[in-house]
Amino acid sequence: MASFLLLQSSPALLATWHGLSARVLTNGPSAFETTHGKDIWSYVETNPALSKLFNESMACDARRVVPEIINGCPGLLDGLDSLVDVGGGNGTTMRLLVKACDWIRDINFDLPHVVSDAPACVRVEHVGGDMFDSVPNADAAFLMWVLHDWGDDECIRILKNCREAISKDKRKVIIVEAVVEEKEDKLGHVRLMLDMVMMAFTNNGKQRTSKEWAHLLREAGFSRYTVTQIKSVKSVIEAYP
Ligand SMILES: C[S@@+](CC[C@H](N)C(=O)[O-])C[C@H]1O[C@@H](n2cnc3c(N)ncnc32)[C@H](O)[C@@H]1O
Repeated sequence: MASFLLLQSSPALLATWHGLSARVLTNGPSAFETTHGKDIWSYVETNPALSKLFNESMACDARRVVPEIINGCPGLLDGLDSLVDVGGGNGTTMRLLVKACDWIRDINFDLPHVVSDAPACVRVEHVGGDMFDSVPNADAAFLMWVLHDWGDDECIRILKNCREAISKDKRKVIIVEAVVEEKEDKLGHVRLMLDMVMMAFTNNGKQRTSKEWAHLLREAGFSRYTVTQIKSVKSVIEAYP
C-alpha cells in the first residue's frame, strides 16, 4: 500500500493529471506523453527510482488479487507444466502462483530493465524482451493488467504472439482484466476511475466491455473463451485457439 501511495503522489504522476484536459480537447497523445515528452514505459526506463516504485505498487495489487484468482478459479492451472507471465513486472504474481501450484515452472517476461531488477525466485525464470516482437514458449500464457494499457491493434498483436508461444496440446491464454458492463453496475465508479487512469497515462488504453473482448479475441485467432468473475474488479478470461 505504501508504494502505491508514494507512486500516486510522485511529482511525475501528479504532473500528468494537469495535461488531461488538453488531451480531451485535442484527442492527442496521452497526458503523460504530453507532459513528459515520452510514453510511460520509455520514461520509467530512464528513471530507476520511479520504475521500482511502479513495479512495487503493481506487486502490492498482485498480492491482493492472486489469492482471489486461486480461490475464484479452482483448476485454472491444472494440467499445465509451465506458464509465461507476459508483462509480469517484478515477478510477484508468478512467485505467488508457483507457491500455490508447486508443480508449475514459470517464466516472468517483461521489458529488460524491469526484469533486471526483479528478485530471484526458485522455479521462476526472468526473461527480458518485447511482447510486440515475441513471447517465450510455455504451456500457457498469462496477462494481468497489461492489455488495458493498449489499443485494439496493439492488443491483437500481443495476443497473436501469445497464441504462437503456447504449446499445441495445452494451449490457453489467461487474461486477468476488468470486463466492463455496458449498463451501469455497482462497480461502475471503479471502472470510471480506471478509464480516467488509462486516458491520462496511455495513448490508446481502455477498459473493455464483453463485446470488445469478444472482438479482440476473435481477431487474434481464438475460437472460444470463458469469463469468470472473481471477487475483485477483474475477471479471468481463458481463451483457446
Ligand atoms: C500495468 S503493468 C502490469 C504488471 C503485472 N502484470 C501486474 O499485474 O502486477 C504492465 C506491465 O507491462 C510491461 N510492458 C510494457 N510494455 C512491454 C513490452 N513491450 N514488452 C513486455 N512488457 C511490457 C510493463 O513493464 C509493466 O510491467
